[in-house]
Amino acid sequence: MVRFGILGAGRIGNVHGRTIAGSSRASVAYVADAIPEAAQKLAAVVGAKAASVDDIIAARDVDAILIGTPTDTHADLIERAARAGKAILCEKPVSLSVERIEQCLPVVEKAGVPLLIGFNRRYDPNFQQLEQRLRGGDIGEVEIVTIISRDPAPPPVAYIERSGGLYRDMMIHDFDMARFLLGGDEIVTVHALGSVLTDPAIKPTGDVDTAVVHMQTAGGRLVVISNSRRATYGYDQRIEVHGSKGMLRAGNIHMTTLEKADANGFAADVIQNFFIDRYAAAYAAEINAFLDAIEKGTQPRANGHDGLMAQKLAEAATQSSRTGQVVKIS
Ligand SMILES: NC(=O)c1ccc[n+]([C@@H]2O[C@H](COP(=O)([O-])OP(=O)(O)OC[C@H]3O[C@@H](n4cnc5c(N)ncnc54)[C@H](O)[C@@H]3O)[C@@H](O)[C@H]2O)c1
Repeated sequence: MVRFGILGAGRIGNVHGRTIAGSSRASVAYVADAIPEAAQKLAAVVGAKAASVDDIIAARDVDAILIGTPTDTHADLIERAARAGKAILCEKPVSLSVERIEQCLPVVEKAGVPLLIGFNRRYDPNFQQLEQRLRGGDIGEVEIVTIISRDPAPPPVAYIERSGGLYRDMMIHDFDMARFLLGGDEIVTVHALGSVLTDPAIKPTGDVDTAVVHMQTAGGRLVVISNSRRATYGYDQRIEVHGSKGMLRAGNIHMTTLEKADANGFAADVIQNFFIDRYAAAYAAEINAFLDAIEKGTQPRANGHDGLMAQKLAEAATQSSRTGQVVKIS
């Protein structure tokens, strides 16, 4: 039984806390949050105690630390948890800066603890199947990866201000998914175009809310990512991979399989609204993969190196979007 300490009892801390509490392989021992009532509330739901971040990291009855605090706290907390010998599941992104990740990862390596970065989409059963079929050669050589990822509505401006911007906060998932699907052919060229089209309140933050990125790998494969902070029809999560022998695609998941037909055509039910519903199975599989890594003493598939590589792409895209220039990744 792996005993978790959860840091951050917000949106994602609640998702993971409830998943862990429902697992037969793990339990939540403690929850910390900068807002004590938030920690107490989640602790009560998952059968844990509220405690401070310092006490949880030092606790002898904690085996694993789950970091679900805001992004700008992650690198410090990873280092502290690693030095305390705890296994770590840290939410994406690892940090807002490549340099800070490069300082942080050797601390984890020295401690020899597993580190899973919360790229939950790698654990989605549909995308996992897609990746396995690509590796099995189902559509021959991969030529174009197209990823569409659109949120139902923008987050509060206060979240955006602290997020590092769309490329680091939101598209980071798609950079990681592209690398996951490309199977080791690393991206070397990035070109990004971004606009504020969905919410004028985002403009003063200097961020964008709509973006398209084109990328090319060392082997010449092409990637297109389309992001928006607003989709009127729900959480739009689609992937299409075009290859030398065909095409594979994974579509959206609807709330039900109901369809209505009349003289105007066929109408399906709405799609699942946001990440908590859409990726429920992925979050559960992610926790299981983390527990496997702890038991086997191995690094999980979405590890610190993946966090670093996705961040390099996010920084290149941020720079490209600001300058209009193509950015090369060394
Ligand atoms: N993988 C995913 O699907 C996914 C989804 C959402 C968020 N995230 C990531 O998770 C992180 C948190 O996002 P969120 O949406 O849950 O945010 P949130 O604001 O809902 O929750 C963050 C919580 O951390 C607390 N907190 C802030 N500073 C703290 C500190 N120093 N110590 C302890 N608690 C502290 C806040 O009070 C808040 O309750 C972000 O890095 C985000 O990128 C990942």
